Amino acid sequence: MASRIPVIAGNWKMNTDLESGINLVKEIVALSNAVSGVDKIVCPPFISISSVAQSASGSTVQVGSQNVSANSDGAFTGEVSTSMLRGLVSHAIVGHSERRALNGETSEQVAAKAIAAAEAGISPILCIGEDLSVRKAGNAATFVADQLEASLAGYSDWNSLIVAYEPVWAIGTGEAATSEQAQEMTAVCREVVRKLAPDAADSVRVLYGGSVNSGNVAELLTQPDIDGALVGGASLKADEFSKLIAAAGSK
Ligand code: 13P
Repeated sequence: MASRIPVIAGNWKMNTDLESGINLVKEIVALSNAVSGVDKIVCPPFISISSVAQSASGSTVQVGSQNVSANSDGAFTGEVSTSMLRGLVSHAIVGHSERRALNGETSEQVAAKAIAAAEAGISPILCIGEDLSVRKAGNAATFVADQLEASLAGYSDWNSLIVAYEPVWAIGTGEAATSEQAQEMTAVCREVVRKLAPDAADSVRVLYGGSVNSGNVAELLTQPDIDGALVGGASLKADEFSKLIAAAGSK
């Protein structure tokens, strides 16, 4: 199996203000800076990115955004472009299920965002995942494969891509996928990459997200196709997030 450096990425969502965001990243740096063998990423709200990046500068903690515009500039009220983020972030989450559900983002739009990010030297963390009705109907694998393929239409910068399988039913519910379920679906994601870019499939990192915490992370990380986690709630507590980093660092 290809050796892939695990990733622990924290999606702060619409949490933290400027002061608490700065404090949070400083605590994470204090607890986790020395842990090696894992890529550590925090994704604060846009308004805090600059200050959080400043606080993390010189550390091993990287900063990402939670979204990015596919457009370069112009009349797009409220949007943030890659050129605004360049130099501040190393990664950008695209296609999170909350944005797909609440903002109506389509896979076509997600693909355009991923391409724009990669072109700016920002690694996309591309999210896909089925909801409960799809899973109950037994269609999770087909749905996720189709959603990922559509979200990668026209994408070609395979070295920078990170995929995050996040089943909607596991997000914020406290009910994580079992490690078997997560393995099965991250393997599906890897096979989609293999179909599109055979040479890249064994090096692209595929993360699991959905109620990851210090109690379940080790078991999830034992799975061969799970290369880390995209974390919501547990990323808002420095000690908990640092435990996830420590677990992945020793994978
Ligand atoms: P939770 O870890 O809070 O379930 O959120 C997962 C998520 O949506 C990360 O992007």
